[in-house]
Amino acid sequence: MKGKVCVFGSFNVDIVARVDRFPFPGESLVANSSMTSAGGKGANQAMAALKSGANVHYIGKIGEDAFGPFARRYLKSVEFDALTLLTTSDKATGNALIFVSEGEQGNAENMISVDPGANMTVSHDEIMQFASAIGCADILLVQLENNIAAIEHVINIAFEHQTFVILNPAPWQEVDDQLLTKVDLVTPNATEAQFMSGVPVTDFASAEIAADLIHKRGCKSVIITLGSMGALLSEQGVKTTIPLFPANPKDTTGAGDAFNGALAARLANGDSITDATRFAAAYAAVSVEKIGASPQISLTEVEDRLLCLA
Ligand code: RIB
Repeated sequence: MKGKVCVFGSFNVDIVARVDRFPFPGESLVANSSMTSAGGKGANQAMAALKSGANVHYIGKIGEDAFGPFARRYLKSVEFDALTLLTTSDKATGNALIFVSEGEQGNAENMISVDPGANMTVSHDEIMQFASAIGCADILLVQLENNIAAIEHVINIAFEHQTFVILNPAPWQEVDDQLLTKVDLVTPNATEAQFMSGVPVTDFASAEIAADLIHKRGCKSVIITLGSMGALLSEQGVKTTIPLFPANPKDTTGAGDAFNGALAARLANGDSITDATRFAAAYAAVSVEKIGASPQISLTEVEDRLLCLA
């Protein structure tokens, strides 16, 4: 039986330039190539959850601008088990301008600036239209790329119905401790963990200190992703180190989204949190070897990668 994951989150159109290196301020730099593709942390995570074997309901909001039809066509083509697509004429569809550095020393790193547009306009009444879907999901997965009032509202609904909540606190915006007490699992990267805890996170030792402080803010479980070092899982304070799976990165955009979507799917399907985190780390390793924030990934590729560190 597939577990049910409800993903409430952003859709963006990603406008990506692949460059040898990031441009300097004031410089015009010729790109090696460019593309326009579907992105947004919410949609990327929903896709990863779907590819990881969950029953996925994606809920997002787009504008009625030129990017709207592109967004609608893409989201329909993904064939989520359920899709709630809200629209507005007040704001444009979210977009992200992305540089991917593909030069020798670039390590396929990215720089992103996001104009969230329609993602920031989700109203109370709109949320009430899909409240029952949140209530009957096994997992609600949310990020911070929507208006905070809407994020708080969906988390409150999940809490009332005892739906397990995963919060990926990206891109960072302040959340209060009262809300964090309703979050079962929070998944910051090193920078977000520093924002949440006040502790600079540079290695596993500092991540452990940050995780304990994040628990004190109310979160039951914490996974701090540490890029090339792997990840630290802290379940009610009990720490497990999750290793990095080998990868030859071509594009690191959306690696965190790949991790979060896969994690949610495997938890919904009944994995332990340690097994789900290992699967998510392997899924993210496969994803950075492909171009784009929401690449097509097969379960076989992830299973093969898991064997690398068996
Ligand atoms: O995490 C990657 C995503 O961040 C991109 O798809 C972009 O849209 C921004 O939301």
